[in-house]
Parts: sequence; structure tokens; C-alpha cells
Amino acid sequence: MKIGIDSAAFSTSKYFLSLETLARRRNVDFAKYCSGIGQTKMAVFPPNEDIVTVGADAAEKALAAVPRDDIDMLIFATESSFDLSKSAGIYVHHFLNLREDCRVFDLKQACYSVTAALRLAISHVAENPDSRVLVVGSDVVRYPPNTPGEPTQGGAAVALVVSKDPRILEVEPQAGVHTVDVTDFWRPAHLNEALFDGKLSARNYLKSLDICVDRYFQKTNLKISDIDHACFHAPFGKMALKADRQLFGTRSIDKTLVYNSVIGNSCSASLYICFISLTDNSEEDLSGRRTGFFSYGSGSVAEFFCGVISENYKCMSNAEKNRAALADRTEISFREYESFCNPEFRIFDRYQNAGNLTLSGVSDCRRVYKILEPY
Ligand code: HMG
Repeated sequence: MKIGIDSAAFSTSKYFLSLETLARRRNVDFAKYCSGIGQTKMAVFPPNEDIVTVGADAAEKALAAVPRDDIDMLIFATESSFDLSKSAGIYVHHFLNLREDCRVFDLKQACYSVTAALRLAISHVAENPDSRVLVVGSDVVRYPPNTPGEPTQGGAAVALVVSKDPRILEVEPQAGVHTVDVTDFWRPAHLNEALFDGKLSARNYLKSLDICVDRYFQKTNLKISDIDHACFHAPFGKMALKADRQLFGTRSIDKTLVYNSVIGNSCSASLYICFISLTDNSEEDLSGRRTGFFSYGSGSVAEFFCGVISENYKCMSNAEKNRAALADRTEISFREYESFCNPEFRIFDRYQNAGNLTLSGVSDCRRVYKILEPY
């Protein structure tokens, strides 16, 4: 039975900071951010937008072409959780009006978690062929101001519907996996911003890539020329370009980075937004093409696997809408950026949401969400 991604969508904040503005304020040459790191804009979340609201928006879009009642499992993958007990997925389940007998839970392993969720979803569909699983990956990436990580912030959500006979990507079962205990990026529970050792993280990312790919080729007897395209976890564009160069030499992955370059790091969602970017922006017919995926989550767990793009993937594309949504964002000033990053800045009713769900307040540590228009 073929199992994989049947529908896919993403969502991000309506607001962005131009890295030209950041470069000016930090006294850095913009060329460093633009060509050195590979980013030009980064998504910044207003107080009324969070992992749940953009997650619900991405899910709503992904479910547009899917029978909602078939969803009997929702896995919410995030490392930006605001609650150490209740799953963020339960809010999304409620707002999407999914079945009551739907299993819902969160998964965490830095940026790797959507790949872990995808694997679980595939196993669930293999056991229950008529089921569909909704995987939502949603993260807001924040580093302390004035650190090398600052221009690599961002945030977004991706939603994938996993089923048999997938209309976008058949995921192949073999994978090369590598886990090693390394403290390259971490966020203690009391902090909003991640701590990191940037150089160590980049080294470990590339080392893990080599190990995963070697393991993958040993298991599959495939070779590099059997892989037509590749998507890499993109904490910033240059990291993915380095990975691509290490694996393929001179092949171009520009089409995979169109969205990431203006959203920034979206952690768990990033790899799969790269895939949507590839299918939306490639002029080539990708039907039947084997595509490699490298997933890396600091800490660290990494996985390399492949999928074959389905014949009718174009029928499932939202390319025009995706481009329009990114073009329709509002640029914020440096001052607004500082306000949005301040947890004490709690004006919930002044800013737009990406979708129909808004965080309207926090009362007694309870988050209150409101639907802006009926779904
Ligand atoms: P840095 O020290 O500011 O930058 O931090 P640099 O000095 O290494 O320069 C970066 C690049 O810009 C270099 O190019 C420079 O030559 C170039 P490279 O040698 O790499 O090809 N450059 C210029 N180019 C043009 N004009 C100029 C100029 N100046 C310099 N004037 C670093 C960079 C990535 C380390 C930093 O941004 C950082 O620490 N980021 C956060 C951590 C991170 O993203 N790590 C990536 C791997 S870990 C990962 O992917 C997991 C993660 O997503 C988290 C999770 O799993 O949850 C982060």
C-alpha cells in the first residue's frame, strides 16, 4: 500500500521584519544576512498569533480537499509549547471540529518532530488503511536580541494530511537515522528564547547528514544519482545550501528555499515548507521524481529518507494562494519588532491574524481563543 502526504499547507504571521532594517540597527552589513546567511525577511508574531492560531490556519487549508471525518489522529509537533501539560493540538482539534474519537497529542524533538510525527502517522495508516492523520508542525523561533542567532528567527506552521494513495508524495519506508547527545540548541522551560552554540550546531547538522545518508544508502542499495531533488531542514538558507553542496556537489535547491528565505526558521515546519516551495515553484514536472528529505533537530536526532512525488501533485497545489499570502504581509518597524518580542506587550485586538482563529487574551494563565469568522 502506498502511504504518504495527501494534502499539505502552511501558514505564517501577517507581519515581518526586513533584515535590512535589522542589519541597520545592529550595524551589520546587510550582505551578511542576505548572501552570507541566505535570508531577507523574518516572520514576527504579534501578541494575538501563536503556534495554535497559525497551526489551525495551516490545518484548515490542508483539510479543504480532504474528508474531515476521516481524521482519527492529530499529532501536533512543536518545540514552542506554552504549556507543559495540555497538548496544543487539543485547541486545534476543537476549532477544526474534528471527531471526538480522534487521538490528539503533542510531540517534541526540536526541529525533527514533524518527521517523527510523519513516521507515526504512516504506521497508523498502515494498520488502519481508511484512516487519515493530521500532522501539524508549528513553531515560533526566538533568540536573544543582538546575538548571531537573531537574523535567523522566524516562525510558521505546516499541516500534512497522511493517508493511503497520497495525492502529493508517497513516502518510502527506508531511512537513515542518527541520534547523538549534543547541546547545540536548547530552551529551558522558563525561557522564551532559545540558547545555542551556533558553530557547534552547524557542524553537527552536517556531520549528521553524512551519517544518515551513508546509512540510507547502505540500507537501500540506491545511489546519489537515484535522487532527483532534495529538501533540507533550513534554519537559514545557507545551511541548506551547504548541506546540498556536501551531498550533491553543484545541484540547485533554490526552488526549495523561496518561502523560507522570507519566513525565517520555522523549526519543525521548515523542511516541509521547503518541500511545498519546491512543488509550488519548480517549472519542471516533478511527477514520479524521487525527492530526498533531510530532517535535523538539535539535541540531536536526524533522519534522511526519500519520497516519490505523485502523478497529480499539481491538482493539490495552492501555489498562487501561498505566494499571495506571503506578498500580503505587513512590514513592521524595528520598534514594533521589539514590542512583539516583549512578553509584557499584550495588546491582543490591534493586529491581524493569518487565519480565522485569534488569541484574544490570557486570563488566570488560561489562553482564550476566539473564532473571527465561522470556519
Ligand atoms: P555568525 O557567527 O554571525 O556568522 O553566525 P558567520 O561569521 O559565521 O557568517 C555567516 C556567513 O556569512 C559566512 O558564510 C560568512 O562568510 C558570511 P559561510 O562561511 O558560512 O559560507 N559573511 C558575509 N557574506 C557577505 N557579506 C558580508 C559577510 N560577512 C559574513 N559582509 C550562525 C552564523 C549560523 C552560526 C548563527 O546565525 C547562529 O548561531 N544561528 C542559530 C543556530 C542555527 O541556526 N544553527 C543551524 C544548525 S542547527 C539547526 O538547524 C537546528 C535549529 O533549527 C533548532 C532546532 O532543531 O530546533 C537551529
